[in-house]
Amino acid sequence: MINDKLSTKEIQNLLSNKQFFDIIVEDCVDSTNNIIKKMADDNAKEGLVVIANHQTAGKGRLGRSFYSPDEKGIYMSVLFRPDISFDKSILLTTVAALSVCKAIKEVLCLGTKIKWVNDVLIDNKKVCGILTEGKVSANSEKMDYIVMGIGINIEEPEEGYPIEIKDIATPLISENRQYGQENLKNKLVAKILDNLYFYYNDIDLEEEYIRYEYIPLSDTLGKDIEIIDGDSREEARAIGIAENIGLIVKNDNGIRTLYSGEISIRDRQK
Ligand code: BTN
Repeated sequence: MINDKLSTKEIQNLLSNKQFFDIIVEDCVDSTNNIIKKMADDNAKEGLVVIANHQTAGKGRLGRSFYSPDEKGIYMSVLFRPDISFDKSILLTTVAALSVCKAIKEVLCLGTKIKWVNDVLIDNKKVCGILTEGKVSANSEKMDYIVMGIGINIEEPEEGYPIEIKDIATPLISENRQYGQENLKNKLVAKILDNLYFYYNDIDLEEEYIRYEYIPLSDTLGKDIEIIDGDSREEARAIGIAENIGLIVKNDNGIRTLYSGEISIRDRQK
């Protein structure tokens, strides 16, 4: 059992940029994304961060739930108000995945990969999922706000992971992965936020730069995959990463680019 408590003060102390983020730590919420969305609708400023020890209704992509047991993970959401169109908003999801990978490397010296679009993997299993939600402005094509939700599995609960995810989920800390754990959650959150700030403000969501960093971390590129659409499955090969982190796929039907949806890696079928 790791012995660190999420703390606003501790995270603030560790942050390089102390101005941009306004951090709230909650014990238990339904979903940190829901909390931020409500606050965004009430005109909250960008840079607002809500982190919880526990979520009772954590949300995943494609209408799924995200298992969020008490004190066993980091469940955080960040509010952005970027001046970008809906198409470009996928870049923020990518930036979240890159920020998590870098933070894990910086804090724990541990390598990670990204399964397209945004699942962070260790040893081929998912350690972090990202759910980006947003609202398009009523008067333009631009986004009014984007909520970036990041869920990281830190420790496996004593009872183990639920059956639906036990073959695909992994915690950051386990029997074979025991590293410097002191203050781990606060350190990771601070690094993730610093990295997000870098991509968002310093790099200004520069598409080429983000793609340049994403490609070496891709777990999907060059692999045989299945494109999943409801009950249907289509085999293809992932041959490239296009603009806005689209996945270029090739099969007998030709070459096309996917911008959203779900895939599985064929030799793993996860
Ligand atoms: C996925 O893997 O499908 C995405 C999971 C995203 C989970 C995070 S936890 C913090 C934030 N609040 C939520 O309800 N979901 C995201």
